[in-house]
Amino acid sequence: MKIGILSAGGDCPGINAAIRGVGKTAIQEYGMEVIGISSGFLGLLHKEYVELDENQLSGILTQGGTILGTSREKPFKKNDKFSKGDKPKIICQNYHDLGLDALVCIGGNGTQQTAYQLSEEGLNILGIPKTIDNDVWGTDVSFGFDSALGIVTEAIDRLHTTANSHKRIMVIEVMGHHAGWLALYAGVAGGGDVILIPEIPFNPAVVSRYLENRFNGKKPYSIVVVAEGIPTPRGISASKYIAENISILTNLETRETILGYIQRGGSPSPRDRILATRYGAYAVELIAKNIFGKMVCANGESISHIPLRETAGKIKLVPADNPLIKKARKMGVCFGDE
Ligand code: F6P
Repeated sequence: MKIGILSAGGDCPGINAAIRGVGKTAIQEYGMEVIGISSGFLGLLHKEYVELDENQLSGILTQGGTILGTSREKPFKKNDKFSKGDKPKIICQNYHDLGLDALVCIGGNGTQQTAYQLSEEGLNILGIPKTIDNDVWGTDVSFGFDSALGIVTEAIDRLHTTANSHKRIMVIEVMGHHAGWLALYAGVAGGGDVILIPEIPFNPAVVSRYLENRFNGKKPYSIVVVAEGIPTPRGISASKYIAENISILTNLETRETILGYIQRGGSPSPRDRILATRYGAYAVELIAKNIFGKMVCANGESISHIPLRETAGKIKLVPADNPLIKKARKMGVCFGDE
């Protein structure tokens, strides 16, 4: 068999570990031929690819980013005036021209949606979920999340010391797109006093009152962890909006930090390396069994799969009854709503 691998959407730590997991298992266990498609679905449109053999797959486990490159190309996007809707047809033709028997698509929600649409066009597709946002529906966890969690937690740890020295309110903005997973987990892991996520409507007045009470109760500084996806007036970043409100509503000195792309860079954590490796190896086992149209997923400690049809077009948000939120509330963390 000949299989292709691509990575699409925003990068994250662990993609290379997944590529390696797919490639090594395919070559060593099943004697398959493996090619890497360049820059996500863009590479499939332009037939840009590299042969992946043992040499290319060696030494990449610990590398951040993706050796194949990535893009946010969405071939099924409506109103694409340049292609007039031809992209899916071109991709299917190229898949066959390249002699592929299967294609593994490593990506987040958008990628799983495209993967589903391509499988509906008759291609043999498997999806592997990756994202620092942890918002892919149908899996407990995506690789990339644990690495980003480590980075954000370390950043919050560092903010504690400077916040304490200056007796300031430190507002830190965390990625996550429309979901609050990263802010919630890093907020709890980093001992954040206020955690604001898109899933919980907040009131700046509640946040400010809470911070003043802390200050008056002899807590000289506070850490406010804000997810980038909270609603704000247009054009204002989440952290700026919150910091400005705190400054206006309290007399406390406030500073903001946007962590940005640092959260997505660098080497994957051991946990992400293992998860990505297991996902990759499992995807090849599905291919060997001629099982397609699925996304690999994690259920607790086990790896399994769900139909792409089920995950496509959905997003996994933090539920209101999330146990970590409940525990954090009981410990006095403010979510801005009460
Ligand atoms: O999905 C990962 C992510 O890093 C989000 O957290 C963030 O909102 C987005 O990608 C940034 O996208 P881009 O790489 O296109 O700037």
